[in-house]
Amino acid sequence: MNEVTTINRTQREYSDAVKKALGRKPQLFINGEWVDSSGDATIDVEDPSSGKVISKFVESTDKDVDRAIAAARTAFDDGRWRDMPPIAREKIMHRIADLIEAHADELAELEAIDVGKPKGMAGAVDVPGAAAHFRYMAGWAGKAGGETQAPYAMPAGTMFGYTLKEPVGVCAQIVPWNFPLLMACLKLAPVLASGCTSVLKPAEQTSLTALRLADLIQEAGVPAGVINIITGYGHTAGDRMVKHPDVDKVAFTGSTEIGKLINRNATETLKHVTLELGGKSPVVVMPDVDIAETAPGVAGAIFFNSGQVCVAGSRLYAHKSVFDKVVEGMAETAHFWAPRASLDPEGHMGPLVSKEQHERVLGYIEAGKRDGASVLMGGDVPSNDGGYYVSPTILTDVNPQMSVVREEIFGPVVVAQRFEDLDEVVKEANDTPYGLAAGVWTKDVSAAVRIASRLKAGTVWVNTHAMIDPALPFGGYKESGIGHEQGRLGLEAYFETKTVLMKL
Ligand code: NAI
Ligand code: MG
Repeated sequence: MNEVTTINRTQREYSDAVKKALGRKPQLFINGEWVDSSGDATIDVEDPSSGKVISKFVESTDKDVDRAIAAARTAFDDGRWRDMPPIAREKIMHRIADLIEAHADELAELEAIDVGKPKGMAGAVDVPGAAAHFRYMAGWAGKAGGETQAPYAMPAGTMFGYTLKEPVGVCAQIVPWNFPLLMACLKLAPVLASGCTSVLKPAEQTSLTALRLADLIQEAGVPAGVINIITGYGHTAGDRMVKHPDVDKVAFTGSTEIGKLINRNATETLKHVTLELGGKSPVVVMPDVDIAETAPGVAGAIFFNSGQVCVAGSRLYAHKSVFDKVVEGMAETAHFWAPRASLDPEGHMGPLVSKEQHERVLGYIEAGKRDGASVLMGGDVPSNDGGYYVSPTILTDVNPQMSVVREEIFGPVVVAQRFEDLDEVVKEANDTPYGLAAGVWTKDVSAAVRIASRLKAGTVWVNTHAMIDPALPFGGYKESGIGHEQGRLGLEAYFETKTVLMKL
């Protein structure tokens, strides 16, 4: 028996702050208040480290959704937020970030027990990232503007033209379960900076931190109705949000399948739509790399957050001269990534988020084996106390027809392949309907630049992976999305542009 199988995966006791949050009455945050649902259905919160039910929240009814959208509509139309001086909006946004930081420990623990991610990771990545999105976008509140433009086909001095950037309106924002707090903040920050209003729905698997965020938004002084947070299922509450005639824009992060459905549903009323969808991101390792740095790097590219990352480096292409060394080096990280309960301070990887996801990922591993793939590492469920664990897994002897190579697994499973020829590997890397991200590992700067330009992906990393920054735009090529989040482009997605032409 190796160390990985002897780890004690019993979940630790929750802190008092977290117990208090779990004991709250299930309610919705609408028009600046905690309100009861019009119905009495609830959804269970499960700790994926133990499989135990630990709390519950509201399953919103149609009436609840309509009430939240009506609040956001009124708050937008009466100008209580967009007409405020930008300096006041900026201050409130920084206050939200301050409050996130002040409650960092509680938020990290809530995220850990809800998603299954190690508390240390949530505290190092998710929570500071969440605050950073508000701080970055806060700076735009008073800086974005239109331009003056002299007409092109009209005599000079006869007409004066300028553009205005105006908030698009009421936004329906739907986020997934892999980075719940971070995604909620990534969505809400440009809403506040642009002067829009929002109804945000977290995923039904992970609603704890979004609800706690509502408290902080209220405490920071965001006027009533500007941000409304409702919980519930996607096919009911989410669907109603997307189709609602009083919503002007839909911002969604999640699966490509649901993204396509949302895009179709939003068409009826021609809403603005931004979609951040799935991926099957290739990672190309060139022959000149330093193995000691690259092997743990490409392992982290897939095993971080149990592989439940839209940009996970799930297809590894290593040059045949370094392939064996790279996968051996990845296998040496097995102990570092060994799954542990999310409150175990030694942990770097937790369980998967849910039973459904566990079955799905194990189903892919079985399909891979059936198709002839070899399991170089992992592939199993380590001993545990009812949680949804999967060992970090490396599959070799795969080919481009296998489902493990073609489809998004969204788990700690990488398919490792050898290549000889650069043109061939670029072609294979691009042979996917997805185009979210890609990675290149090399010491050769010219090769890095050349390969980066040939990979069809919205983000390409060189000698690193999954590094995301609020100032840099993030978006998908092909079936990985529409539009951008973050950076100036991410803000622009919340504006309409108005042209004013004046006869002089
Ligand atoms: P999903 O795409 O169904 O759910 C994401 C969000 O969309 C949730 O808040 C959900 O309530 C909402 N939603 C679902 N159906 C909706 C509808 N008809 N209208 C409006 N909103 C709707 O993802 P799910 O089912 O949780 O996971 C399935 C697979 O999707 C995963 O195994 C993974 O492969 C992929 N996925 C990818 C993500 C990414 O960031 N690329 C994030 C989450 C899942
Ligand atoms: Mg779904």
